[in-house]
Amino acid sequence: MFETLPLLPADPILGLSIAYAKDTNPLKVDLGVGVYKNDVGVTPIMAAVAAAEKLRIQQETTKAYTPPAGYPGANEACQKLIYGAGHPAVEANRVRTIQTPGGCGALRVAAELIQRAKRGATLWVSVPTWANHIPLLGNAGLSLKEYPYYDYATHSINFPAMLATLKEIPRGDLVLLHACCHNPSGADLSCEQWNQVADVCEANGIIPFVDMAYQGFGEGLEEDAYGLRLLASRLPEVIIATSFSKNFGLYRERAGALSFVFADEAQADAGNSQLLSVTRALYSMPPSHGAALIDLILHNGELTKLWSDELTLMRERIAGLRVQLVQSLNQLQKQRDFSFIANERGMFSFLGLSVEKVHKLKSEYSIYITDTSRISVAGLTAEKMDYVSKAIVAVL
Ligand code: LMR
Repeated sequence: MFETLPLLPADPILGLSIAYAKDTNPLKVDLGVGVYKNDVGVTPIMAAVAAAEKLRIQQETTKAYTPPAGYPGANEACQKLIYGAGHPAVEANRVRTIQTPGGCGALRVAAELIQRAKRGATLWVSVPTWANHIPLLGNAGLSLKEYPYYDYATHSINFPAMLATLKEIPRGDLVLLHACCHNPSGADLSCEQWNQVADVCEANGIIPFVDMAYQGFGEGLEEDAYGLRLLASRLPEVIIATSFSKNFGLYRERAGALSFVFADEAQADAGNSQLLSVTRALYSMPPSHGAALIDLILHNGELTKLWSDELTLMRERIAGLRVQLVQSLNQLQKQRDFSFIANERGMFSFLGLSVEKVHKLKSEYSIYITDTSRISVAGLTAEKMDYVSKAIVAVL
């Protein structure tokens, strides 16, 4: 039967890591997948995570199943991180949160629940959006449509065009928004723009579906949640998919959370029962290790501080790399101004190179970035800055 399945090309993002690993050039640089690296090019285990792992080994007494929604303590802690203290939707007991296998698991489970509520519902996604949003959400059966977002010519959000499209979205459709650190562009909505998006969603009955994969990597843990907290305080229904891959550095542990804001408490109970029946049919219960670490860290004042201080250093390091890259590129040539990179946030920015030039970076310099010319700034180091900048300028 499987002879009907053709060989597929490599994944546009994960395929780069495989090609990079095979590359024998000692100068090679991996700016493909969005993984934080420190100044010696290593993705560290965060100090709070390492400390929590030691505690967990001492404290864990069983490997019996966890509850279907994951650890209640982790869910409560994640909820606080996502919504902040005393959020009205949480206080009204309208929010339900479950642990998921990473942010991808959260996105997919959300799509499955949307399907149960309204088969073939329409979800509007930004142009561009994270490449994996399309199969992850589309394969669940959602019908995907697009709204304009990033303007490659001005290196900024085309907000009037975005808003104009949102205003045309039919009542009951969903819109996928990136909470912060827009992937792939790095261009984020300002607070004022979030206010306007909330106005349109409220006036037109649009359901926001927020993907928050980088809380803490943009402006800060609180600031990065501004938009979703606003939406959750004003709208009856909001969906929030959260990843802890980046902000806890728990990539391979697959730690994520899915949170629904429902219209009232009774709907929250019904929705939650459906949610757990979706996950039961998909994977029964989520992985426990990453969630247990988050539970430990966020319920221990010292570990919470250790974690958030390190996260601040990571955020500041990426912001610093952005500034250095701009200085380096703008000093080496005058034909293009790369200043926009310093204004963007999170791991990614577009260089604005053609696919041919991207391939040249790979074949001639062993520098790996996606075909869209998205670079993961977080993969740069001070040591590689000069090499990378010169290569970019050489292919311009
Ligand atoms: C990325 O965009 O590089 C990350 O979100 C990792 C991934 O799974 O694609």
